[in-house]
Amino acid sequence: MKFSPVSSLRGSLTIPGDKSISHRSVMFGSLAQGTTEITHFLKGADCLSTISCFRSMGVEIQEKDGKILVHGRGLRGLKRPEGVLDCGNSGTTTRLLAGILCGQDFDSVLTGDASIQKRPMKRVIDPLSRMGANIVSVRGDGCAPLAITGSPLHGVSYSTPVASAQVKSAILLAGLYADGETRVTEPARSRDHTERMLSAFGADVRTEGTTAVIQPARELYGQKIQVPGDISSAAFFLAAGLITPDSEILLKHVGTNPTRDGVLRVLRQMGGRIETISQSGGDGEPAEDLLVRSSDLHGVEIGGEIIPTLIDELPVIAAVACFAQGETVIRDAAELKVKESNRIDAMVRNLAAMGADVTETEDGMIIRGGRPLHGAVIDSRDDHRIAMTFAVTALAAQGETDIPGWDCVRISYPEFERDLAGIIA
Ligand code: S3P
Repeated sequence: MKFSPVSSLRGSLTIPGDKSISHRSVMFGSLAQGTTEITHFLKGADCLSTISCFRSMGVEIQEKDGKILVHGRGLRGLKRPEGVLDCGNSGTTTRLLAGILCGQDFDSVLTGDASIQKRPMKRVIDPLSRMGANIVSVRGDGCAPLAITGSPLHGVSYSTPVASAQVKSAILLAGLYADGETRVTEPARSRDHTERMLSAFGADVRTEGTTAVIQPARELYGQKIQVPGDISSAAFFLAAGLITPDSEILLKHVGTNPTRDGVLRVLRQMGGRIETISQSGGDGEPAEDLLVRSSDLHGVEIGGEIIPTLIDELPVIAAVACFAQGETVIRDAAELKVKESNRIDAMVRNLAAMGADVTETEDGMIIRGGRPLHGAVIDSRDDHRIAMTFAVTALAAQGETDIPGWDCVRISYPEFERDLAGIIA
């Protein structure tokens, strides 16, 4: 796929549904009694992997009038899957399912694509094992495939070394099946969709600072869920609007949960003109209409507690930093190395290929902005967020940018090209 510079971006967009919330709606809906009706579900490949895993455990999931209907089987109603559960490229599917499967009364095996089979799973194996789970890495390398033998679970109090919503959620989901209270403490607060949504489904879950606490559940109850637009997908258009001249883009109904909105805080701090036009959603999952305009940007320091709230947006923030005057320092972001690809390495090398002044550090990177960028051939590493980051960067660079392996964008944003084409003035 090739991208060229544009002189202006104008128009409005409805961003596809949030990936994290879409996964959880299918998972919790499957474990609930009754039907869960999901509006604006993200039909990206990752969420389709979650649907296919639950279908193979006997859950009936239909699409009707643009909505997804999950006919829940209750907390103890899943069936033993016929074969291996294939989580595709999805870390969320793999880790959250691991938490769910440990407390079932059947055995299962979880795996995924080449990238998933390299991602660290010890971070869920360790705490789940402490709860009494029987879960092993089949090859013994701490990665998937994971073999799980369902067993009785105990409540634990666990401090995670990394702020990770996938780890926290795996433990909380296992906690639904435990014999007592389960507590998870994080070094900084990660996204809290599991806590908010499980509470709506009827679980007894609460938050105390950076600790999430859950009680064992007897039943969950099906819900109607309106999935907000994914702020991680909106981030590409926020970036595009800021760095492309003469641009004004309205992004409608973007999820702005405070554990996810770090990208807005940082881009505004950089001088980005991003205006909140309206707000909705209340306490459930808040959402906003956002108006973004071309802006004069300056560098910032990004580190500490804000990192988990913008972890998936750091690649595109790094790209924006190339168009900002002065230095941007990203630190405390070593987690980027264990995402769908090593995103520090992928960003540093590809930005350098476009002429940026960027240095890799232990836990992030330093970008000295203001140099004009030129088109290049991008090594996307089959990572959807890297591919889309460079599509956006190309809009404000000189000459053509080629992104082989573009197909990976189907993971989180199958309609990206169509949406981009719709705002090129
Ligand atoms: C996610 C949590 C984050 C994020 C991922 C989705 C989730 O991962 O990067 O894209 O849905 O819980 P970690 O838990 O590994 O930080």
